[in-house]
Amino acid sequence: MNIVLTERLRTAAELVRHSRKTVDVGTDHGYLPAFLVMGGITDNVTAADIGRGPLENAEKTIKKYSLEEKIDTALSDGLEKIDRDTEEIIICGMGGTLIAEILGKAEWIKKTEIHLILQPMTHSYDVRKFLCENGFYIDTEKFCTDTGRDYVIISAYYDEKDHSRDDFYYYFGNVATGDTKSEKGYIKKQIFYVKSRYKGLMMSGNEAEASVFAKVLDGVNEKWSELL
Ligand SMILES: C[S@@+](CC[C@H](N)C(=O)[O-])C[C@H]1O[C@@H](n2cnc3c(N)ncnc32)[C@H](O)[C@@H]1O
Repeated sequence: MNIVLTERLRTAAELVRHSRKTVDVGTDHGYLPAFLVMGGITDNVTAADIGRGPLENAEKTIKKYSLEEKIDTALSDGLEKIDRDTEEIIICGMGGTLIAEILGKAEWIKKTEIHLILQPMTHSYDVRKFLCENGFYIDTEKFCTDTGRDYVIISAYYDEKDHSRDDFYYYFGNVATGDTKSEKGYIKKQIFYVKSRYKGLMMSGNEAEASVFAKVLDGVNEKWSELL
């Protein structure tokens, strides 16, 4: 028996390494931890959340499926109260700016054993930029479509090197080809955002800042002109 996850969380679960000490930050209902232990992907998970209400939801799920031995809960702002020997860190369903903020507050995650699985609902730019400028490298990204929305899930490791890239990379990553419906949808969403910022800045006469977005749009034109 296993719990049925949304396509978004199921795609994130596919990236989780087998039997590592895992935390799901911002777990809410705790469905992802339940899926991971019931599917034998991992033996123990911490279901963490900043809110008591969401943690109570997670506790209900844990009880419903009798998973008390395998899932513990933590009332934690981001990674503040999480065991330092955790190796898989999952953060799904939050804005990218908040995800970057959570990672930035936890210096202890700068270890090569740690694997990050991050699913920003918005502002994936902030997640990529934070990772690349803070010694992490993105090894892969996965795309999925869930109830009509296209999502990216970012997988990253620490290696201490500077992986800084240009804004085009921070907006689009480097694996999106536009070949699948999900990738195309994600790319279009990012283009829409960059175009809107460009137009807004031009209309307010801020040409200097607009030129940053114009450069990203030039990159789009080179790679996916048909999507512009
Ligand atoms: C939209 S839900 C996402 C639930 C689940 N991870 C998913 O992807 O479906 C966001 C959850 O993140 C929690 N959250 C927000 N800020 C947080 C923080 N700083 N630390 C931990 N959890 C946080 C909220 O309480 C909420 O339960």
